[in-house]
Formats: sequence, structure tokens, C-alpha cells
Amino acid sequence: MKRLSIAIDGPAGAGKSSVAKILARRMGYTYLDTGAMYRAVTYEALRRGIEEEAAIAAMAAGLDMTVAPGEGRMRVFLSGEEVTDHLRTAEVSGAVSRVSAIPDVRTVMVALQRKLSAAGGTVLDGRDIGTVVLPKADVKIFLTASPRTRAIRRYKELGGSEAGLSVDEIEADIRRRDLLDSTRAASPLVAAEDAVHLDNSDLTLEETAEAIMKICREKAGEER
Ligand code: CDP
Ligand code: CDP
Repeated sequence: MKRLSIAIDGPAGAGKSSVAKILARRMGYTYLDTGAMYRAVTYEALRRGIEEEAAIAAMAAGLDMTVAPGEGRMRVFLSGEEVTDHLRTAEVSGAVSRVSAIPDVRTVMVALQRKLSAAGGTVLDGRDIGTVVLPKADVKIFLTASPRTRAIRRYKELGGSEAGLSVDEIEADIRRRDLLDSTRAASPLVAAEDAVHLDNSDLTLEETAEAIMKICREKAGEER
């Protein structure tokens, strides 16, 4: 069967990375978490105390970023040092939309993402995969769920009340990021014209993955 390139875009907490991982495992594909790559740039900017946009872009251009498949999530390395465990902190989440809105940062990351997925047999998740990174992807999914559903999911993921954040606070952060991501000038979060829209507010992860697998099977069948 033809090895497809699969693009999954959508807002925070829609289930993109969980579903992408399931698909990659079942299909024997490579999973590329592009959000983690923007988070790594953000982490490094925070660590070095760089705030100015041009300076962040210059730093991103000089980064030696590599990735590797991991048990749970994709692993990210900067100059050989693993930074995976530092990428999902509130500090990084709070700053990543601003960093990822810098056009020259996006240019560098998009080039790296294309290089890493050039061989096909890949599942990429992000915001601009179907529109910018892989406009010719075989399968494009625009995955959504209501902001409330996404906030509840993230709340559970953070360990419920132990995380110290309420569902309302998480929902506010999600809405803020949605707005920043969908209104920025460079590669805003929009569905590609040829993307299949899938609202999984009322679907389990398993059902969501199965719906996408079905689309992939149909696509692979067409191209045989
Ligand atoms: O998992 P979650 O949806 O919270 O975030 P993520 O996928 O790790 O992405 C973090 C941030 O990176 C997003 O809020 C976007 O600002 C940015 N991003 C982007 O601009 N383009 C991508 N292809 C992926 C992520
Ligand atoms: O990558 P993205 O931010 O789009 O979402 P995620 O990190 O894959 O999913 C956020 C949380 O929602 C995870 O804990 C998933 O297990 C959960 N989820 C769910 O319970 N049911 C779904 N249909 C999709 C995601």
C-alpha cells in the first residue's frame, strides 16, 4: 500500500497528538509533533532570556534541533541535549504563541519539518500542516472539539485539581491561544480547503482514530 503523508491540524486540546500517535503506531509511520518544535524554540528563548523578535528568529536559525520517536511523546534535542521534559510547562505554553507568530521562526521550522517528512509514511500534527508545510499531503484532517471539552481534557491530563489550575482558567488560556493562533498574519490556524473536518467532542480517541484510518484506507485504495 502507498505510504501516505497525513496532516492533522486543529486547535489546542483537539486530540491531534494523541490521534496522530495512534495512527503512526498502527500504520508503522513516523509521527512528527510540530508543536513540540515550536515549544523547543520557545524554551530556548526563555532559557537564554531573549525577548526581541529578530533575536529569537536569529537564535532559531542557528539551533541544532533533532527529534526522535519516544515512548509517549516525540523526543526533542537541542545540540544533543534532550529538552522533551521542559516543553509543556505553563511558562512555555504561555509564550509559545508569540514565538510561533514570528515569520522567520516559521520559515526555519517549516523547512525542517519538510525535510523530516520528505520520505512519506509520516503523520504530522500542528496548525499549518495542510495549508503550508505539506500542501500536497495525501490526507488532511481538521480536528476540532468545543473549547469546554478541550479544557476539560487538558484539566484531566494535568492531573485534575492537583495541577492548581481550574477548568475555567485552562479554558481561558485555550481561548486566548485559539485567538492568537487563528488571527496571526503568518500561517494562521485555518483549515485547508481540501481538509476533512472532524469534530470529536463526542468521540473517544479510539473512535476518532478509526474515523481517520477509514479515510486513509479509502485514499490508499484510490491510489493503488
Ligand atoms: O498541544 P497543544 O495543542 O496545546 O499545543 P502544541 O501543538 O504543542 O502547539 C503549541 C503552540 O505552537 C500552538 O499554540 C501554536 O502557537 C504553535 N504551533 C504553530 O504555530 N504551528 C504548528 N504547526 C504547531 C504549533
Ligand atoms: O494535540 P492536541 O493539543 O490537539 O490534543 P492532545 O494532547 O492529543 O489531547 C488532549 C487530551 O484530550 C489528551 O489527554 C487526550 O487523551 C484527550 N482526548 C480525549 O479524551 N478524547 C478525544 N477524542 C481526544 C483527546
